[in-house]
Amino acid sequence: MILKYLMMILCVFNVKPGQRCILNSRRDFGQPLPVIIRNGRLLEPTDKYGNVEIDNGETLTLSCGESRVRHPNANKHFEVATVTCQGGDTFTNNDWITAPSSFLFFSCDIPPVYMSKRTNRTCHNNNKIFEVGYPVRDDFYPIYETCFDEWRLTPLYSVYTQKPYNAQFQQHVERPYFVEDDAYRHLSVFKLFSPRGLEAAVRKRVGGHAANDYITAESFLSRGHLAAKTDFVYAFGERASFHYVNCAPQWYGFNSGNWNTLEVDLRNRVHAAGYDTVIYTGTHGVMELLNSSGSTVDVHLYDDVNNNPLIPVPLYFYKVVYEPSSKRGTAFVGINNPFYSSVSRESVMIFCPDQCANNTQFSWLTWSPRTKSEGICFCCTVEHFRQVIPHLPPFEVTGLLS
Ligand SMILES: *[C@@H]1O[C@H](CO)[C@@H](O)[C@H](O)[C@H]1NC(C)=O
Ligand SMILES: *[C@@H]1O[C@H](CO)[C@@H](O)[C@H](O)[C@H]1NC(C)=O
Ligand SMILES: *[C@@H]1O[C@H](CO)[C@@H](O)[C@H](O)[C@H]1NC(C)=O
Repeated sequence: MILKYLMMILCVFNVKPGQRCILNSRRDFGQPLPVIIRNGRLLEPTDKYGNVEIDNGETLTLSCGESRVRHPNANKHFEVATVTCQGGDTFTNNDWITAPSSFLFFSCDIPPVYMSKRTNRTCHNNNKIFEVGYPVRDDFYPIYETCFDEWRLTPLYSVYTQKPYNAQFQQHVERPYFVEDDAYRHLSVFKLFSPRGLEAAVRKRVGGHAANDYITAESFLSRGHLAAKTDFVYAFGERASFHYVNCAPQWYGFNSGNWNTLEVDLRNRVHAAGYDTVIYTGTHGVMELLNSSGSTVDVHLYDDVNNNPLIPVPLYFYKVVYEPSSKRGTAFVGINNPFYSSVSRESVMIFCPDQCANNTQFSWLTWSPRTKSEGICFCCTVEHFRQVIPHLPPFEVTGLLS
């Protein structure tokens, strides 16, 4: 009751007739956050600081999937509900809340459930594109899409946009469990990708004794995101990154080292430079180790009944960042094998002339690209990248994006 009157008083003082609403991604979004739809599309900030401006009288749709939209003053409970801007951060709907309210107070009983949808659209090698997002009534709202190799059971890449506002992602969003849907046939993906499953995969391929050289307290495989959690601005986007079609085994030192630095640097760079980009984040190849008799062996998580290796531990993780309006792009590549020097030479592994090293245009990159434990990293022109990793759909590139 006190909350209710407090909010009514706030509204009386804050809202002038006809005033627009402004919601900031760092300030005005509660949790568990509903999926928010504006004009038939997922909500997006309207400026680089993460503000979204909404006209007075304009309506947003809130969806909690299978749970209900929650509000302290609700007198009805819907899975999908609408609210209308009254100015400032205040929204109302007499059908189900008893008084106008700050947007912050709209949440869900439990977080809305995201899922993958296998489409009929194809990508590299006739693989199928999976969309990951939210069903709302009869529509599906994708957050990102993934080109997924259903024979080897591995993502080739996830694709999504990065704009200046993405640096202002909603903070303190809880990490959900990864979900798999049916993408990995009927394998027990949760077990295979658990810390124990990942360690067992290395031990099985190299033999117990040699494995102790690779697996230590600091060195082990982890679940690597392709599209990062905080590459998405609102909680519903961040959560949807926890899907196994967006995941591959990645060495922890690389995951928490140069790969993480690249994610942060890119978000900040896109924000500072005002870029409007499409990012393809993917994997390529299979990493190799020496087994206990000194032979080179592939590392993957599963062998099927015909002894086909499935779910490879990729040799490379990459991000190809492209700005369509300027037709500029750059491929950032990292080696997912802290032990590669036992099986190959650096000059072979770094497969293009490095465009970032000693290039002041890339001084915004704060990674340590020649520190092996953090993952060796380098940059290629998109043209050179395509000669080695042929995953990407066609698009024209006329120069480096720095
Ligand atoms: C995919 O194609 C098949 C056969 O052409 C069709 O039956 C099915 O409805 C399509 N699915 C989608 C999601 O478009
Ligand atoms: C090491 O790999 C080679 C080649 O696959 C294989 O013949 C050998 O048995 C393996 N050694 C061990 C200890 O697994
Ligand atoms: C960058 O410059 C340093 C110092 O001059 C040199 O040792 C290194 O080889 C250069 N790296 C590349 C990739 O050109």
